[in-house]
Parts: sequence; structure tokens; C-alpha cells
Amino acid sequence: MDRPGETTHFGFKDVPLGDKQTLVNDVFHSVASRYDLMNDLMSAGLHRVWKDIMINALDPPRSDRPFKLLDVAGGTGDISFRAAKAAGEGFHATVCDINSDMLAVGRERAAKRHLDTRVDFVEGNAEALAFADRSFDAYTIAFGIRNVPQIDKALREAYRVLKPGSRFLCLEFSTVEMPGLDKLYDLFSFKVIPPLGRMVTGDAESYQYLVESIRKFPKPNAFADMIRDAGFSRVSWQTLTGGIVALHSGWRL
Ligand SMILES: C[S@@+](CC[C@H](N)C(=O)[O-])C[C@H]1O[C@@H](n2cnc3c(N)ncnc32)[C@H](O)[C@@H]1O
Repeated sequence: MDRPGETTHFGFKDVPLGDKQTLVNDVFHSVASRYDLMNDLMSAGLHRVWKDIMINALDPPRSDRPFKLLDVAGGTGDISFRAAKAAGEGFHATVCDINSDMLAVGRERAAKRHLDTRVDFVEGNAEALAFADRSFDAYTIAFGIRNVPQIDKALREAYRVLKPGSRFLCLEFSTVEMPGLDKLYDLFSFKVIPPLGRMVTGDAESYQYLVESIRKFPKPNAFADMIRDAGFSRVSWQTLTGGIVALHSGWRL
């Protein structure tokens, strides 16, 4: 860790920057086998709609034109599978995730869907990608970036591996500012999700972290500034479902 003495958030707790990744990894090792089921239960299936909106924005070519997607923090593969379904023969995705258990679930799902030749799974850290400069046509990260300890580093890496003229897309939980919905959302997040997590995965604490980490993530305009600082141009975002989620976009020009 190259920022000695610095602390960061792990949910609502302050922890040494160097400890956060291990704590995050424990969360996803613990929930990996039930991760996809929990996503459906927690969001009443809405995560599928949000992911489809991301794929629409990605708009991969439907032809045999080569198109290489890097799906970072790609976990069990949802974004890459959806992109592969929408794309033509020239499409290939690399799911990169730091957690071997999430990747193992992803590989199984890919085989079941007969997508194992079009989607690869690679263990790696968003902060230090083992890919060449300017090697991908698009970079996606869905519900992943708030778990990364050094977000600025991950954004610079995203910029580095993208070819000029290609796009960065980030789907992440955001800030609900709609009066009424905000109270309901808080109630649901803190009173329903951790107990639901306990019932389904036997682990309430991991889900407590997940809801807390959402509250600590920067607001859309502040996150857009971070994307610009990493070098991206034409940075924009749209909020979805009353601000529960935001989709950020930037271009490497
Ligand atoms: C909430 S899951 C999202 C999975 C998938 N993108 C989806 O939308 O279903 C967050 C993922 O981020 C991964 N992750 C956390 N820190 C990471 C890092 N530094 N580099 C790469 N992946 C990371 C976790 O292992 C986990 O699989």
C-alpha cells in the first residue's frame, strides 16, 4: 500500500486504507454462492433493469467487428453475459475481479449459458490491471467501484487500458434525494436488507457493510469530477429509480 497512515471507510467504520481490500474480500467470499439470488431479492429484480440500461448505453456492435469489453469487478459475470447476448460475433468480454469465489460462480454460469468462449474470467485488482495500455474497446464496472479502496487509482487504470475513442461506464448505487422515497429507502436498507442477508446467506454483517458503503459513496457530481480527473472527457451521468442508482459515462478521446 503506497499511502501509509491513510484511513478510509469500510461502511461507516474508519479503517486503515491497507485493510479495506481484505475486509471487502471477506464480504464477497462470504456471499459469493448466494450473491445472484440476493441481488434479485434485495432489488425485487430491479438490478436486471439497471444492468440492461447499462448495456443499452454500451451498445456493443451486433456484427462480427471485433469488440473487446473489460468488465472490472465483474463478479459472477452478469454485465458481460448481458453484453454478449446483445452483441454480435466479434464480441469478447474479460471479467476481471479480485475475488476467486465470485469468479468461480461466474465461470460455472458462463458454461451453463454456453458463453465460455466469449467471456473469460481473470483474477485481478481494479487498482493495478494486468492489461496492456489501450487494449479495450469499452470498460464497465457495475456495483464494484465503491468497494475499491483507491477509486482514483482504479479510474486511472480504466483510462490507461482503454483505446482512444472508447467508453467508460460505471453503474453504482447513488443518493436518493426524492422526499418520501429517501425515508422508505433508508428503512428498507437498514431494517430489511441485513436481516434478509442473514436469512439467505447466514451473514447479516456483509449486507450491513453493503448498505453502509452505499451511503459513503460520493454524490454523482463529485464522482463525475473524479472521472474527469482521471483523464476522461464528455463525462455525464443519469440517475435511475429516484437516484437509487447512477450510470456514469466518460470517453477516452
Ligand atoms: C457487488 S459485486 C458486483 C458484481 C457484478 N459487477 C454485478 O454487477 O453483479 C462487487 C464486486 O467487486 C469486486 N471487487 C472489490 N474490490 C475489487 C478490486 N479492488 N478489484 C477488482 N474487483 C473488486 C468484488 O470481489 C465483487 O465481486
